[in-house]
Amino acid sequence: MKIAVIGGGGREHAIIKKLKENPKAEKIYAIPGNGGMTEAECVPIKATELEKIVEFCRNNAVDFVVIAPDDPLIMGLKDMLNEAGIKSFGPSKAAAAIEGSKAFAKDLMKKYGIPTAKYEVFTEENEALAFIEGLTPPVVVKADGPALGKGVIIAETIEDAREAVHSMMAESRFGDSGKRVVIEEFLTGPEVSVLAFTDSKTLIPMVSSMDHKRASDGDRGLNTGGMGVVAPNPYYTPEVAERAALEIFLPTMAAMNKEARAFKGCLYFGLMITAEGPKVIEYNCRFGDPETQAVLPLLKSDLLEIMLAVEDERLSSVPVEFEDKCSCALVLASKGYPEKYETGYEITENGVEGEIFYAGVKRVDGRLKNSGGRVLAVTEVAPTLKKAVAAAYADAARIDFKNKYFRSDIGKRALDAIEKQTTF
Ligand code: AMP
Ligand code: GLY
Repeated sequence: MKIAVIGGGGREHAIIKKLKENPKAEKIYAIPGNGGMTEAECVPIKATELEKIVEFCRNNAVDFVVIAPDDPLIMGLKDMLNEAGIKSFGPSKAAAAIEGSKAFAKDLMKKYGIPTAKYEVFTEENEALAFIEGLTPPVVVKADGPALGKGVIIAETIEDAREAVHSMMAESRFGDSGKRVVIEEFLTGPEVSVLAFTDSKTLIPMVSSMDHKRASDGDRGLNTGGMGVVAPNPYYTPEVAERAALEIFLPTMAAMNKEARAFKGCLYFGLMITAEGPKVIEYNCRFGDPETQAVLPLLKSDLLEIMLAVEDERLSSVPVEFEDKCSCALVLASKGYPEKYETGYEITENGVEGEIFYAGVKRVDGRLKNSGGRVLAVTEVAPTLKKAVAAAYADAARIDFKNKYFRSDIGKRALDAIEKQTTF
């Protein structure tokens, strides 16, 4: 079978490695991939060059396409591949709106009674500003459309909230994505990421995880694409999981069906465990990055068979099982990320025991060099979270490149939570 995986980051590398475990995956193209993906043939087409992707897949008799990033999904690559008669994993454009438009997602939750923060949607700056005056800070201001994960501003004062609205609506800080804004209530509680396979009839949650989005230790500094993940998430107790399934996961699948936007693919639930129970912070129409680098190494079942079953709407007929173990995916970044950083430094490794998933890397004259902010993630799986975290940090010391940067407290909050529970 010939498979194409769209995207070029650590998430895609984790997907490719897992697909490769099935001998049926004889050839994998990564579009565009990166220099660290030795398991695949990289094709220099951008993930957003949809027509070129379809043409490449047609010309090379690709049997199955896995669309990993949000942009091509939101732009409708699935629909174009369908028209060309090429099978793929990932939702249609209509279903990807669950991530593509925050206003759509919030209205869906309101209509179907799915727990989320209270909110209003605005297309007029004056109205948004007037609404803010009546609120008690902090106030959460979100650009409606995709903004590279940066379109959410938590304003600590009314003045900051006003400025956030003005910068999005009048000054186009996030381009067209901020022409419409969502203003919502600030929620508190631990966050949990849950990825789920769904074929629109069955929904199977994967093992839960905890991302660490801020750049610096102690959850300080700027928001990033994610600096490390541990799985499972100790705050996601069996009771919370049951409520999430009944109040959020299944109602979301049913709501999308009712709206004639049946969702097939990986649906990502960003949840906050509030005092009132789990609530949705965000939906994504795809695997999370770097959650995937922690979650897929725990998958015991065959990823290719699962993905094919999702597309053929027979997910209930295949096994989806995870190891009863823990994992830690530690991101090694270029110092300065997410702002300015230097690239072009050679990456070397010596004695790494875990799995490396490459992201911002390039192969130059046979040598691997950093070319992006998040360079790679190293993942360790172990019987306890404590061991997985310690092993990932030991591996981080065995990988070297100039200006290597990583947080030193990935997993700390989760380990503290486990400690508290067991000493009750
Ligand atoms: P999002 O891009 O929607 O995931 O938002 C980015 C981050 O902002 C989330 O991971 C939360 O930490 C935070 N956030 C978003 N919405 C809220 C909210 N209503 N209350 C508190 N924090 C929020
Ligand atoms: N790690 C967050 C995301 O993939 O959106």
